[in-house]
Amino acid sequence: MKSFKRTLVTTALPYANGPVHIGHLAGVYIPADIYVRYLRLKNEDVLFIGGSDEHGVPITIKAKKEGVSPQDIVDKYHKIIKDSFEKFGISFDIYSRTTSKTHTEVASKIFKKLYDEGKFIEQTTEQYYDEENRQFLADRYIMGTCPKCGYDKAYGDQCEHCGSAISPTELINPRSTISGNAPVLRKTKHWFLPLNDYEPWLKKWILEGHKEWKPNVYGQCKSWLDGSLQPRAVTRDLNWGIPVPIKGAEGKVLYVWFDAPIGYISATKDLTPDWEKYWKDPETRLIHFIGKDNIVFHCIIFPAILKAEGSYILPDNVPANEFLNLEGDKISTSRNWAVWLHEYLEDFSGKEDVLKYVLTANAPETKDNDFTWKDFQKRNNNELVAILGNFINRTLVLTQKYYEGVIPEPEVLNDEDKKTLAEITNLKALVEKSLDNFRFREALKEAMDLARLGNKYLADQEPWKTYKKDAERTKSIMYVSLQIAANLTIMMEPFLPFSMNKLRRLINLEKHDWCDLGLTDLLKPGHKINNPELLFEKIEDEAINAQIKKLQDTKKTNLLENSEVKQAKESCSYDDFSKMDIRTSTILEAELVPKTKKLMKLKVDTGIDKRTIVSGIAEYFKPKDIIGKQVLVLVNLEPRKLRGIESKGMILMEESGDGSLNFVVPEKKVKNGSEVR
Ligand code: MF3
Ligand code: ZN
Repeated sequence: MKSFKRTLVTTALPYANGPVHIGHLAGVYIPADIYVRYLRLKNEDVLFIGGSDEHGVPITIKAKKEGVSPQDIVDKYHKIIKDSFEKFGISFDIYSRTTSKTHTEVASKIFKKLYDEGKFIEQTTEQYYDEENRQFLADRYIMGTCPKCGYDKAYGDQCEHCGSAISPTELINPRSTISGNAPVLRKTKHWFLPLNDYEPWLKKWILEGHKEWKPNVYGQCKSWLDGSLQPRAVTRDLNWGIPVPIKGAEGKVLYVWFDAPIGYISATKDLTPDWEKYWKDPETRLIHFIGKDNIVFHCIIFPAILKAEGSYILPDNVPANEFLNLEGDKISTSRNWAVWLHEYLEDFSGKEDVLKYVLTANAPETKDNDFTWKDFQKRNNNELVAILGNFINRTLVLTQKYYEGVIPEPEVLNDEDKKTLAEITNLKALVEKSLDNFRFREALKEAMDLARLGNKYLADQEPWKTYKKDAERTKSIMYVSLQIAANLTIMMEPFLPFSMNKLRRLINLEKHDWCDLGLTDLLKPGHKINNPELLFEKIEDEAINAQIKKLQDTKKTNLLENSEVKQAKESCSYDDFSKMDIRTSTILEAELVPKTKKLMKLKVDTGIDKRTIVSGIAEYFKPKDIIGKQVLVLVNLEPRKLRGIESKGMILMEESGDGSLNFVVPEKKVKNGSEVR
């Protein structure tokens, strides 16, 4: 394997049009943070780069929807994202943004160089134009009928009904989402990167040179390269972005996927005057952490741009992850189906490491995975609390109890003790191998094995029994356990930084480098530790149920918003209508009809009489909540028997899109028996 002098770690720049969620964390930021913390512990030269992706069409759409400027949108979300990463302990060396001055300069310079050297092809094509608003329309700004399935709200780039990719000119009856008018085709000039020219080089570089890339990454690259690459437009007609820095390109901006990855470079430049060392010296190892939807941009398009520019290094690895789902459904910003980091930090303050742990233990490294709140609770209670927390707590409490918190001097260590301590070094080798190969869930499992080992050791040696009869033996047992605890502060540091910080404080140990991992005298005899405190606490059902309820409410809201309004029924005559006798009435009594789920037996005062009505509302209301309520009743509906009860009339209900029911009531209390017309 090639050896490098330094490492540059980048993480996909999240779009600043929404907060970050657990999918982003599990796929990109947590693994990158673990990796960087590990390299730092090894005293390696490493930079950790992040920032917000602030250009692109989705941001302009969001701005339009909210009636604010794109700059307002990115200012708002950049702050939310940056703050939440910081609180969560993603240890960026810089968290920058692509609306920065440096970024505009760097991106423009690279574009200009490629342009001057003739690396682009210029092409005039016809594109949809909104005459009323005098602007070209990005694909997402055009809607029409899908040519494949007939869905009438398909976008210019994709039909969300049947999933097919389409181009705007294929849409039937296209319309501008800005003005609502039919757009017209207009000629426009753009610059294209001829990816096809880079195909032979890309094939060699990836397919032959990077067989070690993760199978999901290598496989996706291969399928792109097995098809044929086409020239890609790197400019757009849009009024939000970096202006194309050449004459004759007024009103055009760089394509967001051209400028965004260059954001890694400009962020590095903002961080250090030494930035070129990290980007141009072949002894730097460049690693991009991304999600699977970004693979083509980081493995094919951005490298082709860098290659065309000529002075930059290329990524050595791109450990992209698959997707994380939430409770069985795809995470979606627009449908609000997510666990948002800033909300988690409020709801579970002080439990940053728990989320890191769960999202690593369940990381979508080789396939899509599912996050569920029940699993979150289980892993906290059965793993963090019951394994790691329990081992630490027993060790610290016993040390306090037996020796007033002073590390005992062991007389002799027996074979079992030595074997146990030697196991630390074995586990260290395993964790290293896993981390070096970006297998974070495996690494975490192996690190947890050290806590498991500690628990087993305590259970086998039973210091609470030896304490009564063999003081010397007890000292050895506690000494060994304390060394395991001390080693855990190093081994677990990349994964659980807040908790290990706390543990170091509890045992009065300064921060050690990775190379000290395996030392069996990290805590010297005579060293005093502090009073024990719990590292992790159980998460109760209540907290979990509240989160599940929040998601259920989101589901309901979505159902309501997306439910289609039913078509109007065919017309009825005035006579038909006037036959219906609807009266204001009051519910006097209500009880559930036994052995049914839906039915309720009601006694109502219709003003004309007091009568019984059986109504299918039991799933939505409790009898005690509706007694005394004034409602509308169709009083001349022919009586019918339901479950042996004669029902006379019908209560009028509104039925929502999600199937739930609401009473239709007079605006203020009125006399029973009033007619409704
Ligand atoms: N904003 C993109 C996304 O969320 C990622 C951009 S990564 C970068 O999918 F390299 F372009 F910065
Ligand atoms: Zn379709």
